[in-house]
Formats: sequence, structure tokens, C-alpha cells
Amino acid sequence: MRLRPSLLLAGTAALAPFATAQNIRATGKINETYTQLCANCHGQKLEGGMTPGNNKVPSLLTGPFLHGDDDASLAKSIKAGYPEKEMPPWGGALSDTDIRAMVIFIREQQFKFKQGQTKIEKLPDSFAGKSQLHNFQLNTWISDVIEPWSLAFLPGPGNKAIVTEKLGYAYLIDNGKRAARPLLGLPAVDTTSQAGLYDVVPHPDYAKNGWVYFAFSDPQARGGQPVALTRIIRGKIKGNALVEQETIFQAPVEMYPKAGGPHYGGRIVFDGKGHLFFTIGDRGTAANAQNLAVAMGKVHRLKDDGSLPADNPFVKDDKALKSIWSYGHRNPQGLALNSATGDLYDLEHGPRGGDEVNHVLPGRNYGWPVISYGMDYPGTPMAGSEGTAKAGMEQPVTFWVPSIAPCGANFYAGDLFPKWKGHLFVATLAAKELRRLEIQGGKLVAQEVIFKGETDSNRIRHVIGGPDGALYVLFRERIAKLTPAE
Ligand code: HEC
Repeated sequence: MRLRPSLLLAGTAALAPFATAQNIRATGKINETYTQLCANCHGQKLEGGMTPGNNKVPSLLTGPFLHGDDDASLAKSIKAGYPEKEMPPWGGALSDTDIRAMVIFIREQQFKFKQGQTKIEKLPDSFAGKSQLHNFQLNTWISDVIEPWSLAFLPGPGNKAIVTEKLGYAYLIDNGKRAARPLLGLPAVDTTSQAGLYDVVPHPDYAKNGWVYFAFSDPQARGGQPVALTRIIRGKIKGNALVEQETIFQAPVEMYPKAGGPHYGGRIVFDGKGHLFFTIGDRGTAANAQNLAVAMGKVHRLKDDGSLPADNPFVKDDKALKSIWSYGHRNPQGLALNSATGDLYDLEHGPRGGDEVNHVLPGRNYGWPVISYGMDYPGTPMAGSEGTAKAGMEQPVTFWVPSIAPCGANFYAGDLFPKWKGHLFVATLAAKELRRLEIQGGKLVAQEVIFKGETDSNRIRHVIGGPDGALYVLFRERIAKLTPAE
């Protein structure tokens, strides 16, 4: 049965949640449970959002509810979940009393929202902000993009850049103006679920050789079934087309998992010494990350032409894929090289909590899924998990519980913000904030949220320094530019 929202907010018995002391006690604790279990999808204020797999998460503040507005329907949704839409079943982790308390908590929050006590902050299109080391101004740079995933500035005249969008399009940008039509000649891209077009990075010697590298979910077929995995190509820009394409990395199609689904990784980084690193996530099968015979759950290293460097850590291991640089990764959507020190870091999404920053070193095992600071979505320990530490497995530089969903990251190397030089800037999806991390000698010494929004439009996929020293921030529907302010 579906009631109108006005009926819901006017008449439900649960709208008098302050009536008994018992309810108030339950709410105090349930509010923490909400933060732990629900906020990363439904938002800290129940405002709604996106799942890691890009499913729309409804607001719990405003009706009408998708599955019924009465208390019993809410309780049923929480207990049984909608796994096909990524809403986990909570019946195992929460008792019926807990679920009842959660329904009351939702009613309380609806009441507060109706009374105007809860404000959902959308970041203004431009604003001045203060942070610990610099004051800044944020302004929209490009407004006509949809789910931008990465941005590459092309060295040379004209301030040219390329933006990729998750849904499979790339556009040239010329002096701050996006081309009217997408770049032609890109290969076919799978865009279902978490699959899509990912990173775009110019070769460090782009001015001489013109190579631009792309990562994307490569749709193939095996035995009549669609399969997909992260593939790396390079090509050259001619007019509005990508020409002279070459494959840099493609796993054997026998290794490809079922198309769609989660965890493709998709970041590319050059080390300036003729190599590129790139990430591939575990594709939803955690055991892949510990299996050196498959490409999934790894950071890889190849020469810039796709050939194998002789000094990769597993070149002498007959059973291992020789492009592997490090393993035990879940879904590294961030990869950043500190050009001053040569240190490489990855950022990966944990399961529920346990998002990590790792100092990536050759041949090392980063532990997924054997060790993790996160839990499985329904609140049960990870299957096969042995805790948070184990001999022979690396500890993260830092981790986040609950999840912030860290994505793209870059070490700031520009001149506009002198006190930020060498600091790691991290884009986050679930937390909708830009973070600054100071890492010294592989240790985190300081961390700060530069700014934070609350609406889906404030999810941040990537942050990158431009040749002008500004920081470019890829929001869900625009690219903004961060410059210093008095
Ligand atoms: C991994 C993401 C995720 C988490 C974590 C999550 N949810 Fe959900 N939830 C969803 C999605 C997606 C839907 C919408 C399902 C659909 O479209 O049918 C949903 C739907 C619901 C609904 C039904 C809403 C409606 O419109 O009918 C309720 C109630 C709900 N969630 C409560 C919770 C509570 C309480 C928690 C924590 C204990 C929680 N959810 C945790 C993703 C999540």
C-alpha cells in the first residue's frame, strides 16, 4: 500500500517519537548505527545519494517511499533489503528491536526535516573558502559535463585538455570551452553498472610524441556471454578524433569476468622514467586480489609502449602475470605519484568502511580480502577475513571508517598554493568532500577537509593540478577551479 506523503507526515503514530524515555534512549544508540551502516549510501542526513555501483538511493526524508510509506513496509525494506539494487538485507546484523528503533529514527528525522530543522547543503556554484594553510576561491570552469571521470591537460599551445565521462564519451577542451561533439574513434566501452570510460593521461613527452592514454571497461564476448575488463590503449589526437590507436594492456579474454558489475580500478600514472602504472579492481571477486595468475585486484607496471619491464617483481614467477607490480587491492580508483620523491600511492574503496591509502611498493601484498579495516555490507565480518593485520601483508598509510569513498587523487606540484606543495589532494564520492593529506616518509602527518557538500551534485570523482597551478575539481555535473583568495 502506498500512502501520500502528506498522510505520512501528518498521522503516523511514530511521529510522536519523543513521547517515551525508552524511545529517546533507543534513538541515541540507533543514530550511531545509522552512521555506521546506512549513511554512506543514504547520506549523513538521510538525504539520499548513490550506491558504490551507481544505483540511486532514495531520500528517507521525503516521500513517497518506493516500497510503501507505513512503518511495516520500512521495517520490511530494512530487514530484507533490495540486493539487486545494492540495498543490503540487514536482518542478520540488526534485531527486530533495532529495526523498530531505526524506523522510529527515520520518522524523527522526517519530522525535523518537515519542521525545517535539517538543511541539506548544496555547495554554491562559486564561493570563497578558508582552510588551514590557504584561503581559496572556487568557480565553475566547465558546466556541460556528465559524470566526468578524468581530466588531462595537454602540454603545448592553446591550454588544451581532454575530459572523459563515465558513460563512454571524451571531449576536447580548448581554452576552457568544451567541444560541441565528443571525440571520435574511441573504442567501444561497456558502461553498465560500474563499467565505463575511466582515466585519460598524456605521455610525459606528449609535446614530442603526441600519445594520449585511456583506461576503460572493454566489452568482449566469451561463449556468447558479455564479459568485460579494464583495458589500456593509447592514440593520437587529430582534429576531433583519436587516431593511430595501440593497445597497451589487454588481459586474455578467458580471464574477463562477466560484463557490468563492480571494481574496475582504471587509473593510469607515469613515473617519468618510461613506465606507466595502472590499476584494475578485483571485479567483485575478492579472491582475485590474492591470485597472481589474474589481472584483477592489482597495480600493474609496463613500459610506455606496453612492453614488459625486465625488473618487474614477478617476471621470474612462471605462474604470475608479469605486469603485476603489487597485489591484494580491492578497487583502486586513485593512483598518485609524488614527483618530488618518486613515491607511488593508491587509494581504494573498502567494503563498508576500510577505505585505504597505500604506499605502493613492488611485489608487496596489500592484504585484501585477508586483512581489512572494513566489514561486509550487511554488517557481518568479511568472508575469509583474518582481521586487520597479518605478517607479509602491508598496512595502509591511513584508512577511513565509515567510508568516504576516496577516488582520484594528486600530489599538488603547482606554484599558486605554495603551502600545499607536495600535499595529496583526494576526491571523495560518498563524503562529497575534497581532502588534503600530508604524508611524510610514508606516514600520514596531517589531514584536512577543504570543503564539503551534501547533495549528489557534490560527489567528487577526481582532482588534478592544472598547468596554471589551479586545482581542478571534477564534480558530478561540472568541473570547478580552485584558485587562491585573499
Ligand atoms: C550500499 C548502499 C545502501 C546501504 C548501506 C543502505 N541502503 Fe537502504 N537502500 C539502498 C538503495 C539503493 C535503496 C533503493 C532500493 C530500490 O530502488 O528498490 C534503498 C532503500 C531503502 C529503504 C526503502 C526506501 C523506499 O523508498 O521504499 C529503506 C527504508 C532503507 N533503504 C533503509 C536503510 C537503512 C536503515 C540502512 C542501514 C541499516 C540502509 N538502508 C543501508 C541502498 C543502501
